[in-house]
Amino acid sequence: MRSFLFVPADSEKKLAKAASCGADALVLDLEDSVALSAKDTARNTAVAYLKTADRSGPKLILRINALDTPFWEKDLEAVIPARPDLIVVPKTLSGGCVTKVGDRIDRMGGADEIGIGCVATETAASLFTLGTYAGSHKRLSFLTWGAEDLSAALGARNNKDENGLYTGPYQLARTLTLLGAVAAGVQPVDGVWTDFRDEKGLEAEARAAARDGFTGKMAIHPAQVAIINEVFTPSEADLAHARAVVAAFEQAGDVGVVALDGVMLDIPHLKQARALLARATQ
Ligand code: COA
Ligand code: MG
Repeated sequence: MRSFLFVPADSEKKLAKAASCGADALVLDLEDSVALSAKDTARNTAVAYLKTADRSGPKLILRINALDTPFWEKDLEAVIPARPDLIVVPKTLSGGCVTKVGDRIDRMGGADEIGIGCVATETAASLFTLGTYAGSHKRLSFLTWGAEDLSAALGARNNKDENGLYTGPYQLARTLTLLGAVAAGVQPVDGVWTDFRDEKGLEAEARAAARDGFTGKMAIHPAQVAIINEVFTPSEADLAHARAVVAAFEQAGDVGVVALDGVMLDIPHLKQARALLARATQ
């Protein structure tokens, strides 16, 4: 999945608009975009949406409330029978949170296909445990990161510098999320670009994420979806190069290194080319 669009689950208007905007996944939010007084309404609206939505459209993901709130168990009990494609758990502290939610879904008799995604960098302590997601639960599907809650936790005045780039703590969170996800064998998903009128800024941030190895990005506004899809779809040139790399190794026979257009290629390049081709066929 390339684009994951957050939709506040208490907004019938936004829910109605969301399915047609081209996102690979909708993240119906029961957490931070929903006021405390609207938690019950949001949960009921999300369940009704899941039950009536055309399931051949975007994947449907539910973001439940954090595990230190009185809401998350109610959220799970209400939404799991309606078979979301995934659950997103915010403010996870370690892989232990995934084990807890995954085991709970198992005990509820939740479908095996229901995956779990995490927003894994929202507290200071969370940054020390990004290596613990590997092996936490078979349902784990992706890790993403967030700068907004982390800045609040740190008491930061800003999370970006005068050039609009994330400062050290947030770059560290982003990098550790990428490493933690890859170490766990799940999808690394870049966080949100909150300045939704700045499409150039979004595109630059998405390209930087794709360059580093992220394969998708969260969105908060329908206008962000097409840009994210474009950036995370392997280009024809990328695919042609990957095919040429695979072909060069096939022609060379049983070797560990080949030359292509004056560049040395060894096994990691072959692996990368195969991974890109596999992603393009998904
Ligand atoms: N999903 C679906 N529809 C959305 C949407 C979203 N995330 N964000 C905006 N829209 C709709 C609006 O309702 C509006 O519909 P209309 O044309 O029928 O009136 C249209 O897209 C254009 O929206 P716009 O006027 O540009 O923005 P806005 O001021 O209505 O909304 C936000 C701005 C930030 C409040 C809104 O984008 C939003 O709620 N985003 C998600 C926030 C969220 O979930 N945060 C938690 C994760 S960080
Ligand atoms: Mg938040």
